[in-house]
Amino acid sequence: MRRPLIAGNWKMNGSKIDAEELLRGVIAGVADMNKVDVAVCPPFPYLYVAEQMLAETAVGWGSQDVSREEGGAFTGQTSAAMLTDFGCRYAIVGHSERRQFNGETDSIVGRKYARAVAEGIIPILCVGETLEERESGKTEEVVGNHIDAVINLSGVEALAHGVVAYEPVWAIGTGVTATPDQAQEVHAFLRARVAAKSREVADQLRILYGGSMKPGNAVDLLAQSDIDGGLIGGAALKAADFVSICQAAQSSV
Ligand code: 13P
Repeated sequence: MRRPLIAGNWKMNGSKIDAEELLRGVIAGVADMNKVDVAVCPPFPYLYVAEQMLAETAVGWGSQDVSREEGGAFTGQTSAAMLTDFGCRYAIVGHSERRQFNGETDSIVGRKYARAVAEGIIPILCVGETLEERESGKTEEVVGNHIDAVINLSGVEALAHGVVAYEPVWAIGTGVTATPDQAQEVHAFLRARVAAKSREVADQLRILYGGSMKPGNAVDLLAQSDIDGGLIGGAALKAADFVSICQAAQSSV
């Protein structure tokens, strides 16, 4: 049985005060949930706040990105070692917004994944197709390439140290969610892709869904056999909504 993970990706939102308030709401709301892993990924400057406020709680925290380099003259980047310094358990890698706006290729994402694993951080590898790719029947090719980037560079065993998030680009921030069947189909494909290399790794791998996941659709999505949690954007910015999704995961077990 895979333990569900609900992770909030705050993206570039809020202030320090907002972060503190949101964290207070999440801490109080999920305190009694023992069947689900809960994590938040605030903007980099607020990781210190997360560390201070979450250290004594069961809520984990992580970053929204990590450098593919180990350290040195890379202005503006943050290394995996620095993230462990701030207690990060997770790092999102390969989010579609970074692929789109920061030119991240599969090979860059593969290296970021490897750097996170090397420092003991759990990478959350985002995969997903655009609407155009879906409509031209390329969904499996695209998400297959996204996951192969890690397998080819680091071996299938590297997936035993990470989490995958299927985030169809057309569902991110649009209010249009993949139906439970649409999501399940891609999740099952991804698991089979991994199983072709290692059944054991595939069986253990948590595959989250992300893309307009909300309290109103979380129960049905999380009921799917290959959906093991969620990567939440907009709804993670309201403590009540995020907690309600965590509750859906807690009840799905
Ligand atoms: P939304 O939940 O706002 O659609 O964002 C999903 C996402 O990109 C999480 O990483």
